[in-house]
Amino acid sequence: MPLVFFWSVLTCTGLVSALPCMNTSFFTPFSTYDTNRRLVLTSLASNVPAHRGFYNASIGQSPNKVYATGMCIPGTEPEVCSACIMSGSYALIENCLIHKEASFWQSNRTHCMIRYSHTSFIGSLELEPSIEVSNPMDLRMTATDFSRAWKGLTLRMGQAISSNKDTTWSGGRYYAADVAALPDSQTLYGLMQCTPDLSKADCNLCLQESVNFYQQFFLGQQGGIIMRLSCFLRTELFKILLQDTRCHNRCLNPQLLQHHL
Ligand SMILES: *[C@@H]1O[C@H](CO)[C@@H](O)[C@H](O)[C@H]1NC(C)=O
Ligand SMILES: *[C@@H]1O[C@H](CO)[C@@H](O)[C@H](O)[C@H]1NC(C)=O
Ligand SMILES: *[C@@H]1O[C@H](CO)[C@@H](O)[C@H](O)[C@H]1NC(C)=O
Repeated sequence: MPLVFFWSVLTCTGLVSALPCMNTSFFTPFSTYDTNRRLVLTSLASNVPAHRGFYNASIGQSPNKVYATGMCIPGTEPEVCSACIMSGSYALIENCLIHKEASFWQSNRTHCMIRYSHTSFIGSLELEPSIEVSNPMDLRMTATDFSRAWKGLTLRMGQAISSNKDTTWSGGRYYAADVAALPDSQTLYGLMQCTPDLSKADCNLCLQESVNFYQQFFLGQQGGIIMRLSCFLRTELFKILLQDTRCHNRCLNPQLLQHHL
């Protein structure tokens, strides 16, 4: 399905955000649904960091009931998580004016995501829609060297997630970030996460689909992002999150981002 979303990329931070408003179902502005949506979205900024990086909530009675979730990666300072979620909640309220379902992702100082809908989605695997973006600048190494490092990195991250014994709903349940060495002192950085309401099998499936897509279309380029409602995958030649990024000339170039459907 075609997706419309916003990209804002600041050179040298790796900042990326996406905000698709789904054209599946609509509400009237200032209706009860609108009020409930605002209430549930604005409740996330304090609740997500207070619940270890993942919070699900619902407000109202059917047919005006609104379900929402918010998630930050583990280790994020509460105020940084809260700021990420808050900016997403307001962006959703301001941009998805009549849409009964929408979602938001942002990687800046942390990585966070928000989703809301008129139907309950807790525990359900969603592979579609997905947003895929690559940084198609050429690699300054052989495809073989890169590919070997990339496959090793994503395999290790997948195994780390699979072997995590945490069964609680936290942002850390299905999260991994790791690095791999590349030729010429270059480093490959990776980040993977599923929402913790999924079963381990569904999380693995979601990540595997993303890894497969990446291998098919993006391998050989410098970086890429696969965003799905259930899971997230990103690899880059620079540190992905601003909290540990030093500005250097390998940053994402906004002109070179491409959207693949
Ligand atoms: C929803 O419809 C609007 C108006 O036609 C369009 O601009 C937008 O691309 C659609 N959004 C999605 C997510 O497909
Ligand atoms: C989160 O979802 C679960 C499963 O649907 C539900 O039992 C729980 O009440 C929800 N939590 C909140 C705070 O709404
Ligand atoms: C990204 O983080 C920086 C540093 O905290 C902040 O100044 C900037 O406003 C953030 N950008 C967005 C879009 O939130």
